[in-house]
Amino acid sequence: MQKISVKGGKILKGEVSISGSKNATLPVMTAALLGESPSLIKNVPYLNDIKTMAEVLKTLGAKAQLEDHRLHIDPKGFNKWEAPYELVKTMRASIYSLGACLAKMEEAKVSLPGGCAIGARPIDLHLKGVEQLGAKVTIEHGYVHAKAENLVGTTIQLAGPHGPSLGATINVLLASTAAKGTTIIESASTEPEVEDTVNFLKAMGASIEGGGTSRLVIEGRKKLKGVEYSVIPDRVEAGTFMVAAAITKGDVTLKGVNANHLSAVTDKLRQIGVTVDVSPEGFRVRGEGSYKPADVWVLPYPGFPTDMQAQIMALLATVPGISVVTETIWENRFMHVFEMNRMGADINIDRSHAVVKGVPKLTGAPVMASDLRASAALILAGLVAEGETMIQRIYHLDRGYEKIEKKLSALGADIKRMD
Ligand code: UD1
Repeated sequence: MQKISVKGGKILKGEVSISGSKNATLPVMTAALLGESPSLIKNVPYLNDIKTMAEVLKTLGAKAQLEDHRLHIDPKGFNKWEAPYELVKTMRASIYSLGACLAKMEEAKVSLPGGCAIGARPIDLHLKGVEQLGAKVTIEHGYVHAKAENLVGTTIQLAGPHGPSLGATINVLLASTAAKGTTIIESASTEPEVEDTVNFLKAMGASIEGGGTSRLVIEGRKKLKGVEYSVIPDRVEAGTFMVAAAITKGDVTLKGVNANHLSAVTDKLRQIGVTVDVSPEGFRVRGEGSYKPADVWVLPYPGFPTDMQAQIMALLATVPGISVVTETIWENRFMHVFEMNRMGADINIDRSHAVVKGVPKLTGAPVMASDLRASAALILAGLVAEGETMIQRIYHLDRGYEKIEKKLSALGADIKRMD
């Protein structure tokens, strides 16, 4: 099994190009199934999650081929409607096939996602949405089976106990493109990845208003054609490199970033004392002088993203004083804390709060990555830890970061992948 070794103490300097967004590419790939002709999706990151979604599309009968960050999707053979457990268990975004299959095949059978390292993954809002559009839903043998010969638009309220749901918004959006009349999604997720999916569907010919807002209005049953489309930059990869620059007190310019998508992260880093300059040439992040502790509340977009919680905690673990990080989206998303404490961090968890007492130094240790963003956070901690940090279970990392060790090493980090 592969591991990543990081030897701390290098100051990161230089430029890094940010890849296309994983979380936007996944729903866009599923939306491409709804076209009557092939689509070409550009700026696609080369990641295991993208390969898994390509497998989902192939299982449904479509063709998907990734070449040089360009993904060709031909929906012509799309004639199956079952997403099996083997694929859904490795990547929960496979659940988007529910909306696409209902829209095009009038039937869908998708394995229930169950839970994972970051918490329970309920899909009650997804099911409520498609049921309100007229689908009959049953749950049997670990699968959701939905049938709808005639989807009809209606007003659907998608607010959940933790706010809007990205996944439910995508599924209901996809299904609603085939519904008769108008569908209104209230409390829709405003995340840029939803907006990107809306923009892709609109380019295909869908009639959707309100992308990027909490109210989506969809006129269904438009003829959708395949298109060429470039996905947005990955805001989580960008945020991770911003923290890499900050934690090493470096000077890094990020290329290919959408500054609007990063305002909560930028704001928090500036509050800590990091200098962030936004200009047409790039996004320059510099760490100079001393840092101050900060409290971080994870919230749905445009709040501070759950996907950056572990990374900002790595930074705060090294900032003198007491910071409190509150996670409101995923109840178990503190697995990285135990590993960071093995590196000398002083972090205590009290339900959804992590109380972080900044320490003067971290020390390298063998650590275990529990999920995608936790893996990135352990690398960040390793960049400033004394000695070597050996990160195991890095298959999580390959789901969501393209060549992270190459990009970090080009900035001066002492990092390598080992078998
Ligand atoms: C969520 C994040 C997304 C992140 C991803 C992976 C939010 C709003 N979404 O997306 O930014 O990239 O995790 O870390 O921050 N929920 C229900 N019922 C449902 C669906 C969801 O109660 O049917 C709850 C979930 O338990 C969770 C919250 O709503 O607490 C947000 O879930 P959702 O946005 O659907 O999760 P993802 O799509 O995985």
